[in-house]
Amino acid sequence: MSVIVAWLKERLPVSADQLKELTNEPVPNHLQRWWFALGGTPAYLFVVQIVTGILLAFYYEAAPQTAYASVRHITEDVAFGWYIRSVHRWGATLMTVAVILHQMRVYFTGAYRKPREINWLVGMCLLLLTLVTGFTGYSLVYEQLSYWGATVGANIADNVPLVGGIAKRMLLAGDTYNNSTLPRFFVLHAAVLPVTMLALVALHVTIIRLQGVTEFHFDDEKPDEPKHYNFFPDHFYTELILGLVLMVVLSALATVLPATLGPEANPLVTPEVIKPEWFFYVAFRWLKLFSGTAAVLSMGLIVATFFLWPFIDEQIRKRTRFAEASVYVGIIGVLAIIGLTVWEAAVAH
Ligand code: HEM
Repeated sequence: MSVIVAWLKERLPVSADQLKELTNEPVPNHLQRWWFALGGTPAYLFVVQIVTGILLAFYYEAAPQTAYASVRHITEDVAFGWYIRSVHRWGATLMTVAVILHQMRVYFTGAYRKPREINWLVGMCLLLLTLVTGFTGYSLVYEQLSYWGATVGANIADNVPLVGGIAKRMLLAGDTYNNSTLPRFFVLHAAVLPVTMLALVALHVTIIRLQGVTEFHFDDEKPDEPKHYNFFPDHFYTELILGLVLMVVLSALATVLPATLGPEANPLVTPEVIKPEWFFYVAFRWLKLFSGTAAVLSMGLIVATFFLWPFIDEQIRKRTRFAEASVYVGIIGVLAIIGLTVWEAAVAH
């Protein structure tokens, strides 16, 4: 053993002390509360998605003639295929929920404020990429809703002034859904989007390491208590246990409510009801309320406001007496999102 260690040390001259130095960053006590350390949850689920996604890719065949049959083969014939597929599907849902909750924590604690504006922008890109990865993933199954969901999505993109036509053609690899569309979705879903997200998560975490997380203090803290604890091993173990709990939750969901398979896509039959996945309900309801270009432009404006919120909030705090305006804006925003989502879920069309 010592020969192997010596051999390795000669080639990789990193000492145990240096490694410890890199990993034992002291973190503030409030990270012991799950709500404040929520960023680790989407990071863990992202790894689960990459591992299960690679396993699915061994069997998935991205062409309109073969995609549906290959998903059925994974679900019905491949050993534990149903389990891996169901974990991947539930992982997508939980990751989306975790990213939204993490963003809400950052928002309502004002942790996006100076000097963390850039990391808010990186986070917003991660949120959008998480949603787009979900959208392309659901399209791969080639069920009726996959096909028609992708077609409706491309038509929505078409409504954007100036660039809409190009965006639609880029998404569908042509003017309408064709034989090249599914391979394009697959490359986006399995390569372009995850690799971009990996790079952005690395940037996100690097900025967090450079700036440290925002320090918060609570009334129940004792004055003589240490204010920080070590990332390694203390916080690392907390995250490890959280990961194990998540794996149990994912496995239970996958077993009790496994991923199903709807009817195969039929380009000649438009389904009576076309609904996207739940995380697009809010946008879908908005698009139904205001039609065409007005809907797309107003949604663009809302997303732009989200991106630029740290700068808008700074101006509100500097120039007005409403220092806590962000809390009220946030509550109205969350209620509106929940309201529109429930509305879309409740109605048949
Ligand atoms: C894949 C998605 C994401 C991952 C893996 C991730 C990961 C993390 C982690 C591990 C932290 C450390 C503190 C904590 O756990 O809360 C953090 C902090 C932070 N995140 Fe994220 N994040 C993601 C998405 C987002 C989004 C969508 C936003 C907002 C738009 C965001 C904005 C921030 C900010 C501003 C901080 C610093 C918070 C502070 O200083 O207290 N992140 N993120």
